[in-house]
Amino acid sequence: MNILLCFGTRPEAIKMAPLYVELKQYFHVKVCVTAQHRELLDQVLQFFEITPDYDLNLMKKNQSLNGLFASILESMDTILGTDSFDLVLVHGDTTTSCAVGLAAFHKRIKVGHIEAGLRTYNKQSPFPEELNRQLTSKIADFHFAPTQQAYDNLKREGVDIHNIVISGNTVIDALKLTKLKLENGFENEKINQLKSTLNFSNKIILVTGHRRESFGQGFENICNALLAISKQNDVEIVYPVHLNPNVQDTVFKMLSNINNIHLIEPLDYPTFVWLMSIASLIISDSGGVQEEAPTFKVPVLVTRETTEREEGIQEGFSVLVGTNTKNIVNIAMEFLNNPVDYKNKVNPYGDGNAHKVISKTINDFFNVT
Ligand code: UD1
Ligand code: UDP
Repeated sequence: MNILLCFGTRPEAIKMAPLYVELKQYFHVKVCVTAQHRELLDQVLQFFEITPDYDLNLMKKNQSLNGLFASILESMDTILGTDSFDLVLVHGDTTTSCAVGLAAFHKRIKVGHIEAGLRTYNKQSPFPEELNRQLTSKIADFHFAPTQQAYDNLKREGVDIHNIVISGNTVIDALKLTKLKLENGFENEKINQLKSTLNFSNKIILVTGHRRESFGQGFENICNALLAISKQNDVEIVYPVHLNPNVQDTVFKMLSNINNIHLIEPLDYPTFVWLMSIASLIISDSGGVQEEAPTFKVPVLVTRETTEREEGIQEGFSVLVGTNTKNIVNIAMEFLNNPVDYKNKVNPYGDGNAHKVISKTINDFFNVT
């Protein structure tokens, strides 16, 4: 059986990596990267030692959604014709997943959707990811829902329950693997550099952000909140800034040259995981970070109006704070001054075995002997 794993962005690569390693043991697997991201993707490919069989190298600076979507459709037409693929696996809610799914459908190849069923039911938030994910659900033949809630969403939408499996989220698999490496002494130049730069007697606040719906005023508000929080003399803000020019322009303009705000380049995965493990608070609009932080029992202030990761909210691991400056500052102070005890809580997004569940299910679906 021939499987093509296709992805293009940093989070997709992190989440597909453990699955790739697992599937390779049982099937003929090839990897195609659209390279919707370039530097951010390459960092992940390098850490997980994945050499793509096809690299479409599509990223352009400040690319448009339509331009990228069209390029992926066209390029995938060629790739999908090179081998007799039985199944194409896509992940999540990106332009890559939606466009590749559609391209595979046009070629009458079955599509498996990893991390299926997450919903906000608000097409504007996250934009355009909510619609990408819903469209991919329409295209997909097999749906790997990370949680019960994601399964329920798909069932409610009329997806045949025989084609949905609750697998857990493969991000936890990647995280577990990386955490173990760190616990076994893995270090790199970046970790050592941060160890020598940061003042560990202060509370570390880790920040990320990249959502299109927050470009402009939203990011300005978030930066103003970070400026206000940085006035506390016992905090150290570490902010690996996303490479999107719309993010870079605002963040560097507003937050450069503040002593306890460290604006740094996007981090390789193990360094970022290490930072999560030592952080007191995370302020982020990232999907993956909302899923990972509960493993380290670090609260996440989610700088968005909606989230498709409701489980973390329900368990008290994350709080939707939007992009209102005052709101972010007040809630951040509350968490910093009164740390929550998450001792008895477990990460609701998985147990680290999603890659095995997905692999076994593919085997069952295709009845491979
Ligand atoms: C994409 C995904 C989003 C995901 C995010 C993860 C879509 C619509 N959005 O958003 O779901 O959460 O990735 O980060 O698919 N850039 C670089 N180098 C890189 C990556 C990005 O320079 O390695 C810059 C480029 O100028 C690029 C821009 O960022 O054009 C935007 O990248 P794009 O993939 O279109 O959107 P993201 O906002 O990253
Ligand atoms: N991440 C990383 N380096 C960074 C920031 C994030 O490796 O500098 C990881 C993070 O641990 C998570 C993923 O990238 O696994 C999240 O990516 P992003 O926030 O870009 O996308 P999203 O999850 O929102 O789709």
